[in-house]
Amino acid sequence: MLAGAAASPAANHENFLHCLSTSPAANVSKIVFYTPANPSYPSVLQFSIHNLRFNTSAAPKPIVIVTPQTTSHIQAAISCSHKHRLHLRVRGGGHDYEGLSYVASRPFFILDLINLSSVKVDVAARTAWIQAGATIGELYYQIGTQTTTLAFPAGVCPTVGVGGHFSGGGYGLSLRKFGLAADHIVDAHLVDVKGKVHNRASMGEDLFWAIRGGGGNTFGVVTAWKVNLLPVPENVTVFTVTKTIQQNATGIINRWQQVADRFPDDLFIRVILDRTETTTNSTATGRASFNSLYLGQAQSLLPLLQRDFPELGVEREDLIELTWIRSILYFAGYPTDSPLEVLRSRVPLTRKRNFKAKSDYVTEPMSERALEGIWRRILRPDIEDPELIFSPYGGRMSEIPESSIPFPHRAGTRYKIQHLVYWEREGREATDRHVDWIRELYGYLAPHVSKNPRLAYVNYRDLDVGSNNGAGFTSNEEARVWGVKYFKGNYERLVRVKTAVDPRNFFRNEQSVPPLTAWK
Ligand code: FDA
Repeated sequence: MLAGAAASPAANHENFLHCLSTSPAANVSKIVFYTPANPSYPSVLQFSIHNLRFNTSAAPKPIVIVTPQTTSHIQAAISCSHKHRLHLRVRGGGHDYEGLSYVASRPFFILDLINLSSVKVDVAARTAWIQAGATIGELYYQIGTQTTTLAFPAGVCPTVGVGGHFSGGGYGLSLRKFGLAADHIVDAHLVDVKGKVHNRASMGEDLFWAIRGGGGNTFGVVTAWKVNLLPVPENVTVFTVTKTIQQNATGIINRWQQVADRFPDDLFIRVILDRTETTTNSTATGRASFNSLYLGQAQSLLPLLQRDFPELGVEREDLIELTWIRSILYFAGYPTDSPLEVLRSRVPLTRKRNFKAKSDYVTEPMSERALEGIWRRILRPDIEDPELIFSPYGGRMSEIPESSIPFPHRAGTRYKIQHLVYWEREGREATDRHVDWIRELYGYLAPHVSKNPRLAYVNYRDLDVGSNNGAGFTSNEEARVWGVKYFKGNYERLVRVKTAVDPRNFFRNEQSVPPLTAWK
């Protein structure tokens, strides 16, 4: 049986819909889909669009959005996509920075996993099975309501989907202690290009390696992940200390560059650079927010900071002790006494805006002069909301070999930079101004970051670092350009896996690893 609009405006895709409705899976339970004729289509499409840059009337729209309730619905969608040559984009939480899970330049449909979102935590076994349409907030909620001494090292924003996040690595504030989310995946369920369902044993270790960081929408549709949970103390400590340029932010960041990746693994201090107003005369100034998670108690953190980072001037009253799950609320921007249910919300705490982002890896500290150049750019008054986030590596990240999973940024990395710019003003001019700004900043930083190749984080998707050609087809020469930036030496192995499991490049987007031979 079929739910959704009765007629598609694109007559040539009627066959796809007919195929879905007559598939054996549809006899067992409804396959719910939405065409533009369905009044719910705009809200279903927009609900999981997190970058308003791709929510314009000009952005290409899917012909159909399929919202599977079961794995058999996914199998049916893949089979009908083959038969009727309708391009597929998989959507988890919809946070892709370049909108690749819901925008494509050729006729396409979205396989939106939003209804496959159950999370089962087994406290005794210290594991969780997470369906691929769940958010990391749902995972945190399920952990936090069942135990205070287990945690999982995924991202900061609860609305991020595990589908894309784990497929690209996924990190949060305990990365120096535990590494990435993908480092702790121990099993997965995946529907392959032929519609076959696999677990780790049946997919084999090569494919299992590739899906833990090799990027989404490339090797198949992941339907669930099994992860190990990690032990944390009953109480952890958080703080945020801000310094303006006038309060020596530049000098303190400089010191931070020397020490942040060398602290004990339990301590993570990131720096967020943005713009604020001075309290004295309300002029714009640069602000550095030192934002920290310590997997221990305040009484041991304070002497550590006073010894190794006295320049920051942290005092006992800056330190807040709470449970790990309440630290998740803190970093997500919620009051720490909020009901844990807020973590289940798929609606972000802050309003959605247009944004463009980039990433870099830093191996040697940059000079204070170089940092001053960043401030000058942040202070440009015609740029609405610029932000840079410096996240320290070291600790466990340096111990895990580069080839352990496809994510390669390990020993030798001091910190990662995320460049971000947000804006609300609509229109071409505002978009160009902000995108030009971030590109200029990226150019400015070139001498101070990794080189040959200039490395980047696949989950901070940036089509400026290279992309497969516009039609969605690709060659290895085109893909290598961006592939080695995201995956370094692991790129070649990803190509081999892709060639073995999806030789005709069925699962693809502008930055999916292609098979050895290009297909049209
Ligand atoms: P989305 O649904 O857009 O998917 C991203 C990619 O994965 C697409 O190519 C999609 O097709 C594919 N995909 C999704 N589900 C799949 C599945 N089941 N099988 C196969 N392919 C699938 N990152 C980080 O490491 N730490 C952080 O703290 C944050 N914080 C953060 C905050 C905010 C507000 C945003 C917008 C983004 C982040 N990120 C992040 C980046 C985030 O990790 C990245 O965008 C993820 O790919 C998002 O996964 P979603 O499932 O939400 O996105």
